[in-house]
Amino acid sequence: MPSLVGRSLLTLLDYTAEEITAIIDLADRVKRERAEGVRPRRFEGRTIALIFEKRSTRTRCAFETAFGEEGGHPVFLAPGDIHLGEKESVEDTARVLGRMFDCIEFRGYRQSTVEALARFSGVPVYNGLTDSYHPTQVLADLMTVRERFGSLRGRTVAYVGDGRNNVATSLMIGCAKLGVNFTVGAPAELEPDPRLTAQLKEIAGTDGAVITSTTDAKSAVRGADAVYTDVWYSMGEEAKAAERTALLRPYQVDETLMAATGNEKSIFLHCLPAVKGNEVVASVIDGPRSAAWDQAENRKHTIKAVMLATLGLS
Ligand code: CP
Ligand code: NVA
Repeated sequence: MPSLVGRSLLTLLDYTAEEITAIIDLADRVKRERAEGVRPRRFEGRTIALIFEKRSTRTRCAFETAFGEEGGHPVFLAPGDIHLGEKESVEDTARVLGRMFDCIEFRGYRQSTVEALARFSGVPVYNGLTDSYHPTQVLADLMTVRERFGSLRGRTVAYVGDGRNNVATSLMIGCAKLGVNFTVGAPAELEPDPRLTAQLKEIAGTDGAVITSTTDAKSAVRGADAVYTDVWYSMGEEAKAAERTALLRPYQVDETLMAATGNEKSIFLHCLPAVKGNEVVASVIDGPRSAAWDQAENRKHTIKAVMLATLGLS
């Protein structure tokens, strides 16, 4: 396994295909251990600061349980609990937390905040979601696709909906790096950042993977192994709810769109939380093709793998 000791995870852009694969391999191992009843205490005597400016169910619980069940001490810091960005600069907060904790998780608005935490704390910092990226999510997504199909290279993931949000962006990066074909189905206003798309097309091309986008949901999903969607407006975008709902209605994942894959083995993915009746209908996310619940569980195994690898405990 390539050494990841001391590394932060701010965006998957900073990681090579080999490093991403090594984390997913380790996640498979910790998942197996757990199923077999093996209970190591690899985080004994360690501490992690969990800073959340935005709400979370999966990310918070994954970090807290993965670290705590192996003897570590997670400290949850909600907005209003600490001075971060209010009375004290991010840099100063980072310097202090770095003296007290072995590692830090941050979920919030600005990517620049998680970057500053990493630069000034001197300990590994994990991006638990910002407006720009959601890298730990995509590790779980790729793990889930590999679990279902046995391989990643040459598979096809279609993402329909808000193509420029944090999840779509990170998914495109992860797929491009691991040789997974990636198609976005989104209205022109919500297509992924063209500069990033151009950069990723080059990365993907070296592996033979194809990155494409279209405004037509049905053509986006044709031939896909996995159809992925996310909420139509992200945390912090609540004012855009009505506008997005009108714009994205044609991109709802229903039985007809799943059938448009032309692939009866295709699965449905969602990072969750889901707004059933908006981006996906209940019969799909709660139905036999949904891998969304495995995906949610795999958040924990992949997050544990990231912490083990970067703390040198694997
Ligand atoms: N998928 C995800 O990040 O979920 P939470 O917002 O519940 O953490
Ligand atoms: N795009 C969503 C993802 C939630 C996990 C958001 O940022 O709200």
